[in-house]
Amino acid sequence: MGFMKKNDLNSSYWENRYKENDTGWDIGHISLPLKVYFDQLQDKSVKILVPGSGNSHEIEYLWKLGFKHIYAADIAKTPLTNLKTRLKDFPENQLLHTDFFKISDTFDVIIEQTFFCALHPSFRKAYVEQMTKLLKSKGKLVGLLFNFPLSETGPPFGGNKAEYSNLFRKDFNIKVLEPSINSIKQRLGNELFFIFEKKT
Ligand SMILES: C[S@@+](CC[C@H](N)C(=O)[O-])C[C@H]1O[C@@H](n2cnc3c(N)ncnc32)[C@H](O)[C@@H]1O
Repeated sequence: MGFMKKNDLNSSYWENRYKENDTGWDIGHISLPLKVYFDQLQDKSVKILVPGSGNSHEIEYLWKLGFKHIYAADIAKTPLTNLKTRLKDFPENQLLHTDFFKISDTFDVIIEQTFFCALHPSFRKAYVEQMTKLLKSKGKLVGLLFNFPLSETGPPFGGNKAEYSNLFRKDFNIKVLEPSINSIKQRLGNELFFIFEKKT
């Protein structure tokens, strides 16, 4: 993948990646670290957002577990249609075909999986700001962040523990930010599992 400028990573770019089946990020099922996290959630009434959800394997898993207030958001339409094909009774109004930065609802939990790394690095501060707006007081941002050097080629764009900690610690309590021990083989050693809790 060559050098991508900020405006190149737009909805047509992502839509084309789905249309051309060029979706190497899609592991085809829920990732184990997130499955383990979801399995221990007791309260199924929590309102959850998965931004940049793509084919939304996490949403499918949560739905089958009995979570109802769950929202898949993506700037590309195709993966949301794919989800609806798999889950016929999933409510249309919980499929948000929109830019993450334009969402204005609030949530208890937001899930991160290969979305942060898909955004141009110039959006990192805006991502943190938008997360603080979208989360309720003491809401949690949970998921996986890559742990490999940031270069100008991407997506995916890398990062490391110190950078993430610097970005989030003003507005979030860093509850967990550790190498993920149950990643898929291709990502093992290259991703961090995290739980950030909004401070106020
Ligand atoms: C690398 S893919 C990851 C998809 C999914 N999380 C997964 O793990 O399979 C990044 C996703 O983010 C979506 N995306 C990129 N920019 C976005 C934005 N500004 N708002 C919402 N979705 C966006 C893309 O369409 C794509 O589905």
